[in-house]
Amino acid sequence: MGVSGKKVCFMTGASGKLGREIALAIAGQGYSIFFTWNSSEEQANEALDQIRWVSPESQMARCDVSKTGDISQAFRVFGQHFDRLDLLVASASNFFRTDLLEVTEEQWHSLVDTNLKGTFFTMQQAARIMLRQPFLSRMITMTDVSAGLVWRNFAPYTVSKSGIQHLTRIFARETAPRILVNSIAPGTISAYPGRDDEPESGLIEKIPLQRLGDPMDIVGAVKFLMESEYVTGQVINVDGGRMLF
Ligand SMILES: NC(=O)c1ccc[n+]([C@@H]2O[C@H](COP(=O)([O-])OP(=O)(O)OC[C@H]3O[C@@H](n4cnc5c(N)ncnc54)[C@H](OP(=O)(O)O)[C@@H]3O)[C@@H](O)[C@H]2O)c1
Repeated sequence: MGVSGKKVCFMTGASGKLGREIALAIAGQGYSIFFTWNSSEEQANEALDQIRWVSPESQMARCDVSKTGDISQAFRVFGQHFDRLDLLVASASNFFRTDLLEVTEEQWHSLVDTNLKGTFFTMQQAARIMLRQPFLSRMITMTDVSAGLVWRNFAPYTVSKSGIQHLTRIFARETAPRILVNSIAPGTISAYPGRDDEPESGLIEKIPLQRLGDPMDIVGAVKFLMESEYVTGQVINVDGGRMLF
């Protein structure tokens, strides 16, 4: 049943590029981590090894968040390991370009079912646990600055992220004052450890702060939301001002 008294985070997408940095930072704040992965077992094992250096009792389980049965099963496994839930981070996400006039039903399902439906049913399961607990808990959804912009060739993706931002407000309103629910909307994040991405041409000119984001910029926002007790229903754009263009 975990480590008595230690706070616990359930996270989807912790094996992702940014997701892993977030999970490591949360572990570093003294949390046990339970995370899910879907298709990348090797990355998931690497992430678990790294997280366990900081938080040895952490666990993972396979879960396709586009399937409600998988989400229920992941929470059952979670319950076998941990007896409290302090923080949900819903980060699992699919991202690819889709030409507006050529979007297929399969692409729509892949993006919207993973991002929007998956986040909703993960939040629903987490809320059922959190609302039974006698202490304040928190949810952080991961969206994207593009949720508030009109990007060409990303309709299902941006609609899914926009939907998550509204879900964030709905859950914040309906679960207050027991759960604080907020969203972080990153701009383009680069500079992952071991990578040196070249930004797409012209992108830096659209960012008032004149650089891509660093994972630590996002981690700073996560830590703020983990500490704050009077912020709920908000979307924090961590985008160098990209939203202003
Ligand atoms: N990185 C950026 O520049 C950036 C910018 C804006 C917003 N964001 C948002 O920030 C969050 C973290 O980004 P990231 O860089 O970590 O993303 P990423 O590297 O693309 O990782 C995506 C994660 O989601 C999981 N996932 C994908 N489909 C899934 C499914 N059907 N079921 C369960 N898990 C699934 C992946 O697991 P598997 O590989 O095991 O399938 C992986 O852990 C995401 O929500 C993303 O949209 C990121």
